[in-house]
Amino acid sequence: MQQVWRVTVGWVVGLLAVGAVGCRSAARPPASANLPDIRVGATVEAEHGMVVSVCPIASRVGAQVLRDGGNAVDAAVATGMALAVTWPEAGNIGGGGFMMVAEPRRGDSPDVRFFDYRESAPAAVQADTFANKPSSHLLAGTPGTVRGLHTAWQQHGSKRFAWRDLVLPAAKLAEEGFSVDAALAASLNSGLRNSDAFSEFRRVYGKPDGSAWAAGDRLVLPDLAATLRRIADRGPADFYEGQTADAIVREMEAGGGLITASDLKTYRVRLRQPIVGTFNGYTLYAPPPPSSGGVAMLQILGMLQGRDLSPESRWSANTLHLIVEAMRRAFADRARYLGDPDYGQVPVAALTAGDYVRKLGSDIDPAKATSSEQIAPWAQLRENGGQTTHYSVVDVNGLAVSNTYTLEQSFGGKVVVRGAGFLLNNELGDFNPRPGQTTRTGQIGTPPNLAAGGKRPLSSMTPVIVAREGRVCLVTGSPGGRTIINTVTQVVLNRLAFGMTLREAVDAPRLHHQWMPDGIRVEKALATQHPDAVEALRAIGHRIDPTMPDRQGDAHSIDVNPATGRLTGVADQRIGGAAAGY
Ligand code: DON
Repeated sequence: MQQVWRVTVGWVVGLLAVGAVGCRSAARPPASANLPDIRVGATVEAEHGMVVSVCPIASRVGAQVLRDGGNAVDAAVATGMALAVTWPEAGNIGGGGFMMVAEPRRGDSPDVRFFDYRESAPAAVQADTFANKPSSHLLAGTPGTVRGLHTAWQQHGSKRFAWRDLVLPAAKLAEEGFSVDAALAASLNSGLRNSDAFSEFRRVYGKPDGSAWAAGDRLVLPDLAATLRRIADRGPADFYEGQTADAIVREMEAGGGLITASDLKTYRVRLRQPIVGTFNGYTLYAPPPPSSGGVAMLQILGMLQGRDLSPESRWSANTLHLIVEAMRRAFADRARYLGDPDYGQVPVAALTAGDYVRKLGSDIDPAKATSSEQIAPWAQLRENGGQTTHYSVVDVNGLAVSNTYTLEQSFGGKVVVRGAGFLLNNELGDFNPRPGQTTRTGQIGTPPNLAAGGKRPLSSMTPVIVAREGRVCLVTGSPGGRTIINTVTQVVLNRLAFGMTLREAVDAPRLHHQWMPDGIRVEKALATQHPDAVEALRAIGHRIDPTMPDRQGDAHSIDVNPATGRLTGVADQRIGGAAAGY
């Protein structure tokens, strides 16, 4: 299996001008009566367009935009706004994320753009600001989602939909309310537990009679509806300089947070070049720093190149061992080198170069677990003194969007901006909290990801687009903190190397190793389905984390058949998402 690794460098293109908000309604194209109806389900096959997300309502909102003549970016904006209403633990306007957009080009590889709308640290932040039990308010970064979605729409939207018409469906959902499903009821109930300190969160998201949410209840969010209507009418100007900006600043002043009017006003989306690698004849477009996902995923795949990745070997102890050893090494490099590239040199090209990656994996002993401590003599280890969501969109012309956005933990830090109805992120917890304190339990204190004013914390979010012979064939990504990188890498491996269908690739049980702590976390299903392999890993020196989570990640993905263009939307069923296609 011959693989060539190629990485594009010099990806910092700089700031995007964010100009007119485009609030006037454009004439909508009439929906064609000949088009099939939208179908919604866990797996959906379709010819024209597809949206897959954690929430059936939001997937349908996006698919309706596609069916009404919008393109994949229009649909991604509408889906993202809808999720801010229907999936409040992670869907957001008070957080940030990454969007990868792939425009097809006839006879050539797609033109792929990466929108970094990650939250940034307020100007007042310093390296040790988060060292001692920071409050939720302190951990809030300047949100990027509204400007991020707006910038992507300005650059790639079809212009058949005005900005306003992509935000209004979300405003209406918030205004009129919508039916809570089992997944949302569980999410809200879990968020409301231990939330006594957050009275506005309880007022806005608690069930009015104080009981637990149940499937079939109706959630109405009037404050959020009013905020979304302002954003629909005035665009980012409202959120970053208008009434919503004022509400955020008031919330910060009341709660001891650091975001100022100037932080909001100067927030910019950054357009960066994706990292490009090849694997098994496929081209992978992966997120650059401040995501760590692209570098780590390409390193893991690179270390596995040339090894036995036959379908029959997928669940052998040997294969699992190789995957874990590759993860261990990639995560050590992540801790050592990765951070916001605007605040220091991040050697992406060197870290993903073929020779380097081969060398990195060359000391993997097929018969024995490596010690995480030994492969990182640079780390001066000391003793120890959430939630995100991904969605994928492909339209009838092959335009593809891979979007992961987040509040960091579930419902962020549970701070709802008073009177404005939306949750703020606690993303600044992704900075290395204590300079110099790298511990065996996984806390990292290395310089590249130390906090600073304006800097973006290192992320693991890994929205990915894969192409074959110039055509997009897979769109995927996941939530899950540091596990994101390994979830996405396993979906990609299952599909590209182990010959699984996308449904099988997403359903297959997952594991996770992140260098420190030096142990493997296996999904319960993996231990149940392959107990001998897990036992064999133990026998060669791996520590298996006894917590064994029920689920790792939530990878809502789309497969495009390269020959026919037919779309298969696959909603990961670990939480209960849906594909919507027509
Ligand atoms: O950007 C990151 O890597 C994290 N803030 C993502 C958090 C997350 O995925 C938690 N959700 N499960």
